[in-house]
Amino acid sequence: MKIILDRQSSQPLYLQIRNYLSRLIQSEKLAPGARLPSIRTLAASVGVNKLTIVEAYGVLEADGLIQSRPGAGYFVHSAVSSHQWRSHFAPTQAVTIAETGETFCEQFTAALQAQQQKEIINFSSGFPLTQELDNFQRIAKRAIARTTDNLLRYDFPQGQLILRQQIAHMLLQQGLEVSPEEIIITNGSEQGLSLAMRYYLQPGDWAIVETPTYHGALGILANLGVKAIGIPMTAEGMNLELLEQYLCSHRPKLIYTISTLHNPTGITTSQTHRQQLLALARQYECPILEDNAYEALNFAPVPAPIKALDRGDRVTYLSTFSKTLMPGLRIGYMVATGKHYQPILEQKILQDLHSSTVSQAIVSEFLSGGHYRRYLNRLRTNHLQSRNAMLQALERYFPPQASWTIPQGGLFLWVHLPEGISVQAICREALSQKILVASGAAFFPDRQGYPALRLNFSNSLIDIEQGISALGELVQKYLVGAAVERSPLLQSVGAIGY
Ligand SMILES: Cc1ncc(COP(=O)(O)O)c(C=O)c1O
Repeated sequence: MKIILDRQSSQPLYLQIRNYLSRLIQSEKLAPGARLPSIRTLAASVGVNKLTIVEAYGVLEADGLIQSRPGAGYFVHSAVSSHQWRSHFAPTQAVTIAETGETFCEQFTAALQAQQQKEIINFSSGFPLTQELDNFQRIAKRAIARTTDNLLRYDFPQGQLILRQQIAHMLLQQGLEVSPEEIIITNGSEQGLSLAMRYYLQPGDWAIVETPTYHGALGILANLGVKAIGIPMTAEGMNLELLEQYLCSHRPKLIYTISTLHNPTGITTSQTHRQQLLALARQYECPILEDNAYEALNFAPVPAPIKALDRGDRVTYLSTFSKTLMPGLRIGYMVATGKHYQPILEQKILQDLHSSTVSQAIVSEFLSGGHYRRYLNRLRTNHLQSRNAMLQALERYFPPQASWTIPQGGLFLWVHLPEGISVQAICREALSQKILVASGAAFFPDRQGYPALRLNFSNSLIDIEQGISALGELVQKYLVGAAVERSPLLQSVGAIGY
């Protein structure tokens, strides 16, 4: 295999090799199941050190594109092929503006209560349900034994240096070069959101969000008295034409974006979209808050974060271990550069002094020795299977009027339903059948938006089949109801009601 490398480029050689191979795999020039050249053969033919190939194969494995079979070598992942899936997602492009209202706290506690029910099929949660943390106890014990001294006292607000170094290394593999001194460990990324939003925004300000968007961010904005302008998502990301109009007319003080594996749609924006978004932010002097909580759960390579393109400290970046390890650890991190770092850090001190040293030590132990990488590989492989099973089930059981996104990772599928259907009634009846789904309304600043469901696909294949078939029946049933309600003749005789 011949790979032409640019040895003058700032991009490391192993990433150039990874990108080349990943293009071959994505375009199926390297077919699912195909054997890759051995490390020694490829190193010799490309003219690099064997370690460079080890590193490139390691990242491709972490991307979920290849798998190693002990003793046999490296193979293209058999579940990689995704071209049979076609998304018809094309929602109407209406901007939503909300000046008041906060329901996130109620929604959060209600969802937790509903999840307590036994034998519930949970399509609603925002964390992986098929965890394979079998060695968690062992790793946690080792972490605590190793760092006893550090655990007994207060720590620095920015978090443990070793963890920040590990995160900086991880981010470098995602194409974002930052120093540990630009990282703050937060109490989940929810705290990162709160710190950044409080830093950039004042009551009465306008802020741009994508619609739909993460409802926890909407909750903070509402609590701050900030008015949210919801710019609709297209299948490619935030509608940039509408964004520009509102940047110009409302002069917002912040753009909140989830550029990679967006919650709730699962959409990842392209490199070009990222460049254009940053250019607009620069032109209208508006900071960006980039929240990539799901970035590590990708099945296919994703572009580097917008923060990697930022030369003017315009972007603050957030992520978390809640979506990969477990939310209960409450470990997230933010990258704040230049003049923004110190004031945000001081706010962190005032909020909680520092994040849990025990949790930091556990995450750090996970990141060392390759546990995390191996664990992520298994998680991505399982998620890819679950996503495919959910797509198949949706095609089988949902009416043709529904459309959905086809995420290349993350946790969620976003299902767009026909106008007039009562999503609330569907969710209520689904819950009575022990199926928990998130109504799309929660993800819009006006708590309405268009009819939609957010479905977490990280479930067992049996639950997906059973849950989606039951949901499909409900959607069909309420679709008939919606059509009937729209018909004036039938409405007047009140023929059918649900
Ligand atoms: C986009 C996004 N950001 C932030 C969070 C907060 O996560 P945590 O505080 O557990 O890191 C979530 C949780 O669902 C999320 O989806």
